[in-house]
Amino acid sequence: MSDPRLAEYLQFLRFPSISTDPERKGDVAACAAWLERKLTGMGLETRVVSTAGHPIVLAKNAHQPGRRTVMIYGHYDVQPVDPVELWTSPPFEPRIENDVVFARGAADNKGQIFAHVLGLEETLKEKGELPVNLVLLIEGEEEVGSAHLEEFLLAHREDLRCDVIAISDTGMIAKGYPTFTYGLRGIGALELKVTGPGSDLHSGIYGGAVANPATAVARLVASLHDENGHVAVPGFYDDVAPLQDWERAAWARLPFGDEDLLKVTGSRELFGEAGFTSLERTWARPTAEVNGIGGGFQGVGTKTVLPQKAFAKLTFRLVPNQQPDDVMEKVKAHLRTKCPPGVQLEISGSHAGEPYFTDPQSADGQAAQRALQRAFPGKDLALIREGGSIPIVNTFKRVLGAETLLLGLALPDCRAHAPDENFPLANFFGGIGLNRALLEELAG
Ligand code: BES
Ligand code: MN
Repeated sequence: MSDPRLAEYLQFLRFPSISTDPERKGDVAACAAWLERKLTGMGLETRVVSTAGHPIVLAKNAHQPGRRTVMIYGHYDVQPVDPVELWTSPPFEPRIENDVVFARGAADNKGQIFAHVLGLEETLKEKGELPVNLVLLIEGEEEVGSAHLEEFLLAHREDLRCDVIAISDTGMIAKGYPTFTYGLRGIGALELKVTGPGSDLHSGIYGGAVANPATAVARLVASLHDENGHVAVPGFYDDVAPLQDWERAAWARLPFGDEDLLKVTGSRELFGEAGFTSLERTWARPTAEVNGIGGGFQGVGTKTVLPQKAFAKLTFRLVPNQQPDDVMEKVKAHLRTKCPPGVQLEISGSHAGEPYFTDPQSADGQAAQRALQRAFPGKDLALIREGGSIPIVNTFKRVLGAETLLLGLALPDCRAHAPDENFPLANFFGGIGLNRALLEELAG
């Protein structure tokens, strides 16, 4: 703890910057202001830009003509902490055990983006300048779908122009293995609400004569898959790009297999779409997931009620070349045809994002791989795709015309979005070195 870099990281973690919670709006803003002070203190020209949602923090060095411009993107917002009782220690009181930091945001994304910040600070202190023109963009709405970032990009297109973008907001395949991610899944989210009678009813008096909305939701959810784990929505797989042979072969050699997956997930058994390995299922195949389902009596004991309404929250992970709008229309049409009689179905959409795929062997891709190898020496570099989504990378491509390099630092057992989220100090300090090596390699 005597290392001031670590002390600052822990300070960053103490802000409960939960973007989805309106009650935390002030904490999110305070976190942005803290970052602004830090970046200004490093000599970067920094501003906090307010949006209709949470603020964006933007910092730059003095740009020089003839240099390459690199954007580093990250997010300072975090996911909610519930169920908070399952945390070993309070989520916003960081704890270090066996050289691992435990806190909400430790890995996703505060630890990773702050390692970049500290890398920049070291270079600035030692050399007085950076080897590239820097655009540092740290947003506060990534965990809620980056609702206001596109508008900001469109309004400040010129100001944000860059040759390439680097993000550390993904994972490493295993401890110590430098990992370059060249693909992410996209996402489409929707919520379905089923309503039946005008109020909750006595299930003895009326059950059997009035359709039960909870049953209808269960039927709808069950209609999404067949028994082989294949998504049963007609046309769902129409545009799915097949896995390439080199990927199949390379992934089979990675130091992460089904045994590791069982351990990391705490599951007794794995299950997924027939005909694919676990890595293939999560990285290169689309899925339908129920994120939440409810309705009716949730209390202790029994209550003989026929609920008036029930709901389910669904997300679909998408892969190249599926288009979120197209797939979501197919899903909605499927749900409408599967809705049993006697109830009303209402479907509302929320955020969506396209899948991402970039050429790992582009000049910048190779530069990033060299930087990773320098920062994490000793192990062979892993080339992977991942199952998570960072929808803004496609917006970057469309609006700014730049490819994104994904240089993840989180470990498979980082517990992102879950209780006891964590990040090893080795990855945090490795990330500082990664930033330094990356800017050198990208400077060309
Ligand atoms: N850092 C994750 C995305 C991620 C995680 C990518 C693991 C690759 C591997 C990001 O913060 C995140 O959780 N994104 C959301 C996006 C959604 C809210 C639109 C996700 O993937 O669920
Ligand atoms: Mn993240």
